[in-house]
Amino acid sequence: MSTTQLEAGPQADVCEFERPKPFNLFIFGATGDLAKRKIFPALYQLNTLSLLPEEFLIIGSARKKMDTDEFRDLLREAVRNAPSIGVEKFNEAKWRELANRVHYMPVEDPGSYGAMLKNCVPLEERYKTCRNRIFYLAMPPSAFNDVIKNLGEAGAAGQSEKGGGEENGGYSHIVVEKPFGRDLESAGELNSTLRKYFREDQIYRMDHFLAKETVQNILMFRFSNYIFEPIWNNRYIDHVQITAAETLGIENRGPYYEESGVLRDMFQNHMLHLLALTAMEPPSAFTTGKVRGERAKALSSIKPLDPEKMDEFLALGQYGPGHSDGVLPGYRNEPGVSPNSNTATYAALKLEVGNWRWDGVPFYLRSGKRTPARTGEISIHFKPVPHKIFREYNEQQIEPNVLTLCIHPDEKFDLFLQAKQPGTRICLGPVRLDYTYPKGIATTDYARILLDCMQGDQMLFASADEVESSWQLLTPVIKKVESMEIKDFPNYEAGSSGPGQADAMLSRDGRAWDPL
Ligand code: BG6
Repeated sequence: MSTTQLEAGPQADVCEFERPKPFNLFIFGATGDLAKRKIFPALYQLNTLSLLPEEFLIIGSARKKMDTDEFRDLLREAVRNAPSIGVEKFNEAKWRELANRVHYMPVEDPGSYGAMLKNCVPLEERYKTCRNRIFYLAMPPSAFNDVIKNLGEAGAAGQSEKGGGEENGGYSHIVVEKPFGRDLESAGELNSTLRKYFREDQIYRMDHFLAKETVQNILMFRFSNYIFEPIWNNRYIDHVQITAAETLGIENRGPYYEESGVLRDMFQNHMLHLLALTAMEPPSAFTTGKVRGERAKALSSIKPLDPEKMDEFLALGQYGPGHSDGVLPGYRNEPGVSPNSNTATYAALKLEVGNWRWDGVPFYLRSGKRTPARTGEISIHFKPVPHKIFREYNEQQIEPNVLTLCIHPDEKFDLFLQAKQPGTRICLGPVRLDYTYPKGIATTDYARILLDCMQGDQMLFASADEVESSWQLLTPVIKKVESMEIKDFPNYEAGSSGPGQADAMLSRDGRAWDPL
């Protein structure tokens, strides 16, 4: 197979944002895993790339009692060891620049939110943050409702008489991490609580997949090239595969994962957003409202799933002990997991988008923990050529074209075509056109999320409609799964590519998964 590497586009520096305005970022759940692994490393990256403003303040907050120095020490270790940075690349001076602006304020009870907002004013004046405030909720999802209420009652939205960002000429944005609720009903309640205190343009619902470079590229790819859109439909496309497979297990998140499982953790948000970007109609303009509107329309066009016919569209798995560079424990042996757990760590789901463009084209989605490789990709499998004039010259079957948009481990896209192989005999073979993103230039997904929130750009965040449509689709299925006793768990080995049921689902349709 031959490969053609295309030329890279413009230099990255012309594609970078201008620095945002000064801000005060409150991080709730600041001593937790997410803050340490993702949020602070992303802030460090933004600072190293000179993408933070001259003036800013970061207030970490959690229940734990500690002082600012202890908090900074804790973060330093976390940032140094973060996979996106690494000990060798860690720059002490750059860290100091950031750390000097990080403070810690514990919150214990609902009453302490008001005091915290009041107590931070002298710091805001010292750091000249212009009363721009971002409230980032990075704590366990079960606490979201209460914290939003506490913040709202304390006047954080800046629309009450109690004083806040907007009343003093700044902005007040609230960022809510995923999972946004645990079903349709709780997501609706969360949206109502948010709307009680904040306007929609102040609310940022997280899905960090939307901020990945290659995921953002899906729309650029589709809507800035004339050649794809005319064939992006059921006339030319046979099926679509969307994969997010991870070598990692559940890390130290046993209790969270037991509550969520793969359908809540990966499908309700990341997987369905990847589908929405692949399936949506072209928006009439590249604006937040129009892009989010089309994404929401695509999600609401997915045909409803009948929980009574689950075997036709869903295959679930849970990993047992296995091997990959050593022995790996089974899910039921992970800390914080019940020894009889019924929680799925793998799912393969077949969906159809019910509209003129996609009728009859299956979208196969799969995501799982402890697979042999970390793979994130969308592959568009085109139909075979209708009349095979080269059949007699080619012993092997001529493979249909496949376009793969790779999210990780490599950030790239590939197009497989058929071409004549050099030689005197007529021989056809696949060739690959690919483009790999330059490494080390792009900001991480979390850095991009933070930057957009500072810039007031909601395009890469989910709207209330998107969140509710995806819950509407999945809630009946999740409820049914939770009511069943799954007898064959664990049904795949850690380090293998998933349960046989997932392969069987595709082979019933005469298809096979792309290799992991
Ligand atoms: C998170 C899930 O949202 O996404 C994790 O909670 C998952 O379980 C992670 O591992 C995958 O994201 P990324 O960016 O590491 O591919």
